[in-house]
Amino acid sequence: MSLDLTSVIRTIPDYPKPGIMFRDVTTLMGHPEAFSQAIADLTAAYNSHGVEKVAGMEARGFIFGAPVAERLTAGFVPIRKKGKLPYKVSSETYQLEYGEDVLEMHLDAVEPGDKVLIVDDLIATGGTAEAAIKLLEKAGAEIIAAAFVIDLPDLGGADRIRSMGIDVSSLVS
Ligand code: PRP
Ligand code: HPA
Repeated sequence: MSLDLTSVIRTIPDYPKPGIMFRDVTTLMGHPEAFSQAIADLTAAYNSHGVEKVAGMEARGFIFGAPVAERLTAGFVPIRKKGKLPYKVSSETYQLEYGEDVLEMHLDAVEPGDKVLIVDDLIATGGTAEAAIKLLEKAGAEIIAAAFVIDLPDLGGADRIRSMGIDVSSLVS
């Protein structure tokens, strides 16, 4: 029997500021069956695509991306916030709701032609995913898809990423 994942995602009103309904995925992570189902569903959708690397964005993308990589017998590529990676990096600046931030990836994390699946917990405006795509494309990766546990469609991120020619999927919307 499969579980309705929406039933284990907590909603926090007015976080981080008034008017925002924050979808809190920590309750799904903490639910053994839901977490296992989410990892299994993300993996099942891509297990015939020849994925060689899974790229996950700090921090919550690591939690979902790493077990998916292991199940796909793929490597894991951490895409991190500025200043966290020790070797030579490629950087992309992206817009936050207020201001901007920078994502980085090791220059040798992917080889040209590597088949890469992007995994994150949630897509909102798509700014984070777009920055990750740019990092991977600069490195010559072939992006198979971007897969999310949660899509917040009102914020337009999935459409933004599809308009870049990237396949997008989510477990719940
Ligand atoms: C959250 C979430 C996604 C991103 C989605 O991460 O985990 O990575 O925002 O938003 P966007 O589609 O509008 O870019 P956050 O930057 O809060 O970092 P965290 O995982 O370290 O909390
Ligand atoms: N939940 C978690 N992360 C987020 C959200 C949310 O509702 N919106 C933007 N990033």
